[in-house]
Amino acid sequence: MILVLNGPNLRRLGTREPDVYGAETFDDLAALCRDTGRELGHHVEVRQTDDESELVGWLHEAADGRIPVVLNPAAFTHYSYALRDAIAQRTAPLVEVHISNPAAREEFRHTSVVAGVATGTIAGFGLQSYVLALHAISEMNTTS
Ligand code: DQA
Repeated sequence: MILVLNGPNLRRLGTREPDVYGAETFDDLAALCRDTGRELGHHVEVRQTDDESELVGWLHEAADGRIPVVLNPAAFTHYSYALRDAIAQRTAPLVEVHISNPAAREEFRHTSVVAGVATGTIAGFGLQSYVLALHAISEMNTTS
């Protein structure tokens, strides 16, 4: 099992700034992640929330269950110490992903307060960032 967790505004993929995030919808993303998981032999569960406390709760669930995570923290990336502290409790791999490349965008996006407690980060490959992250976790061979 691998959890794919998404932060605020990502449910609006497809209509949200398509020049930055592409034309594919959140449902397309969820299907892509599930299909990739199936190919790799893992059950993938995809979730999205606009609510920081719900996301923190899901990260506690992952920490307690030692469940590997692909996380797009969206705007929380840049300022949520609560998210960082939740991620720091994990023991299974957690890959931070971004659809766009935040380093090539506005200055406030250049800082990730969660990158230092993630296993690694994949950014800038569109929805393929998630596919690459699922492959990375699968390669680490720690999933159940
Ligand atoms: C994002 C990049 C963030 O800066 C932004 O706030 C998002 C999406 C991405 O996937 O490119 O909501 O995480």
